[in-house]
This record gives sequence, C-alpha cells and structure tokens, in this order.
Amino acid sequence: MIKIAPSILSADFGNLERDIRRVATADYLHVDVMDGNFVPNISLGVPVVKSIRKCTDMFLDVHLMIDKPLRYIETFAQAGADLLSIHLEADHPTRIAEALKVMDQCGVKKAVALRPITSARAILPYIEQLDMVLVMTVEPGFGGQAFMDDQLETIRQVRQIIDQYNPACELEVDGGIAPKTAPLVVEAGANVLVAGSAVYGKEDIPAAIAALRCQG
Ligand code: DX5
Ligand code: ZN
Repeated sequence: MIKIAPSILSADFGNLERDIRRVATADYLHVDVMDGNFVPNISLGVPVVKSIRKCTDMFLDVHLMIDKPLRYIETFAQAGADLLSIHLEADHPTRIAEALKVMDQCGVKKAVALRPITSARAILPYIEQLDMVLVMTVEPGFGGQAFMDDQLETIRQVRQIIDQYNPACELEVDGGIAPKTAPLVVEAGANVLVAGSAVYGKEDIPAAIAALRCQG
C-alpha cells in the first residue's frame, strides 16, 4: 500500500488550517522544518507545529532539516509530532544515536534522512530500530525542484537493507515527486511519497493525491 504525505511547504501559510483540511484524504502530513543553517532556507518551527497539532488529527511526519537535532527532539515531540526525521549529516553519529534514544523516550516514531550525497550504507548502524528511512530526491531546502534520477539507485539499496534487517521499516522519498516520477520510486522500493507542488499546485487536490497513489 502506497502512502501519500503532502508537504505543507507548498501550502498557503496564511490559510494553513484550510490547506491542511484540503489534504485530509492523504495518509501523513509532511512538515518541513528548516533552520537556515543545515539548509539555506528558513521555514517554520515549534509554535507552528503546535498549532498544526491543534487543528488536525493527521499523522504529523516532521522532517527536521536542522543542525544538531538532538537539541530539539523533546520540544518537537511535545509540540505534537508523531514521527521525527533527522538528517544523518546533521551531527556526529554518537549524537544521532542519542537523538534516536530521546525519540524513544518521548514516544515518537524514528526516522533518519539522507541527503543525495549520502550513501545508503550510512543507515546500517541504526536500521534495526527505525520506523522509517527518508531518501531525498532533491537537495533539501526548497520545494518545486527537479527529481534527481540518480537517487533511484540509493532507493534500491535502502530497500535491500530494509528488507534484510527491518522489513517493517517504511521507505519515504521526498523531492520532485509527481505522477511521472512516482512509478519510478515505487518500483525502486519506496512506499511513502512526499509531494508538495504536485499536490498544492493542483486545482483538484483530492484528485492530485489519488493520481499519485495510483501512479505508485
Ligand atoms: C525539500 C522538502 C520537501 C519539499 C518537497 O527540502 O523537504 O518536503 O516540500 O517539495 P516538492 O514535492 O515540490 O519537490
Ligand atoms: Zn521534506
């Protein structure tokens, strides 16, 4: 079963509640947190996640594009995140491991995210305890970028590692996902598709979500 996770980065932040309701037929709500350091853009932070939590029961899949995420795990968990993704490039491995431990203590689901430069093997030390692996199919930082074809190989390798060590773990892809690219990533092994512009850029949002689901 393919899951769709609309990214609210492409929503109208002045009408966020309305735009969250518009994606009610999706599976997860993907929330992109950017700190202006780990990525060259600033999006939203803890108070916004708290407000989102108050206006929806959807599963909040919070993608932390921030340096040294360990500092903020507890805060985002308390704000209402259901799952936190931290980037493997964002800190020393010992503090990545520590951040995953804190996620357990806080009762949130755990994911690690890979920039395009990072190899699939980087997930090996953590795979057995993860709920999800997030493979970026663009350089993180902005919505609306072109899908990077060479990430299909990384998706395939991550799928192999998941099947071998933790088959229940989900494989999410993020960046440039549209009806054309969805079948490629699903064939490579993804089961959760993030989409910003391919959902919010469309007139009929439920139809856009359905199109991604059936392409997949
Ligand atoms: C990019 C973000 C994505 C972004 C995807 O750094 O992590 O979630 O919103 O946008 P699209 O689907 O438009 O590529
Ligand atoms: Zn994202």
